[in-house]
Amino acid sequence: AQTPVKVTVTGAAGQIGYALLFRIASGQLLGADVPVTLSLLEIPQAVKAAEGTAMELDDCAFPLLRGIEITDDPNVAFNGANVALLVGAMPRKAGMERGDLLEANGGIFGPQGKAINDHAADDIRVLVVGNPANTNALIAQQHAPDVPAERFTAMTRLDHNRALSQLGAKLQVPVTEIKKMTIWGNHSATQYPDLFHTEVGGKIAAELVDEAWLRDTFIPTVAKRGAAIIEARGASSAASAANAAIDHVYDWVNGTEWTSAAIPSDGSYGVPEGLISSFPVASRNGKWEIIQGLEIDAFSRERIDASVRELEEEREAVRQLGLI
Ligand code: NAI
Repeated sequence: AQTPVKVTVTGAAGQIGYALLFRIASGQLLGADVPVTLSLLEIPQAVKAAEGTAMELDDCAFPLLRGIEITDDPNVAFNGANVALLVGAMPRKAGMERGDLLEANGGIFGPQGKAINDHAADDIRVLVVGNPANTNALIAQQHAPDVPAERFTAMTRLDHNRALSQLGAKLQVPVTEIKKMTIWGNHSATQYPDLFHTEVGGKIAAELVDEAWLRDTFIPTVAKRGAAIIEARGASSAASAANAAIDHVYDWVNGTEWTSAAIPSDGSYGVPEGLISSFPVASRNGKWEIIQGLEIDAFSRERIDASVRELEEEREAVRQLGLI
């Protein structure tokens, strides 16, 4: 029998955790023939709630679910982990400065990175969902010097999926007709959803829509969709975020020709080396590769640079705080 894959989920008792765990256990994260064990990491106050979720997982009698562990100790949670979904984070509270937010998250992602370094399986793959996701991923990575740097990634797949959905609605085509969508930069309002390489029915998407829509509707709608969901739902995107996490890891493990993911830059497209920035990526043999050779027009260049500048500022801020 196949050895189960150990998947660790932090923030397991939160909203995204609740939307995510059942899909992992049902086989959607890795494949319908891959058994899994789940490790649920929470803060002490939320361990009981995580235990409740685990009871429900039991009650689904998922054929692929071979065990559940619940803990508030990262050294236990990441021990032998093959996949780590870092969802739990410190949210921005009213009156919190960016430095405070980064510092609070450094206190979470630094120790988790170290626990991954010391205890995870050799093939560990990390996806950071908790915001500020790109910089939290960088912090975790910098505390895990023994893990290949490329194993630390951050999620921009939700932004990618939002862009597919908005474009599909505008052109009245199913999302399956849209190829080569790309999100560049930071998972924040500065992100740049790029339609200049996106293809619909063999045509470039940017040429199928007018420039005003692209600039004044499409880009801000995608970039600010998270806030619009909070406004409408009274709570932040959870099921769609969980769905994107599933898509990201599934494609990482099983391969894809083109999607968006925030991965460590090798200097491609002028993004400073080491920044964890969103790129157009393919996945082959379990590794992300940045898609090369795209021409970047002036409109795109300006927007990519602005988002990358924000990532550099975040990196500088966490350096100055001594978090990396
Ligand atoms: P939530 O507040 O419902 O749940 C977060 C959970 O994390 C809580 O149960 C909390 O106890 C736990 N937690 C906090 N610190 C922890 C630690 N040190 N170790 C383990 N668990 C810890 O939040 P929700 O809605 O599940 O969102 C989680 C994160 O995902 C937020 O940072 C949110 O901003 C982010 N997010 C990212 C998206 C993306 O596209 N990258 C999309 C949507 C949300």
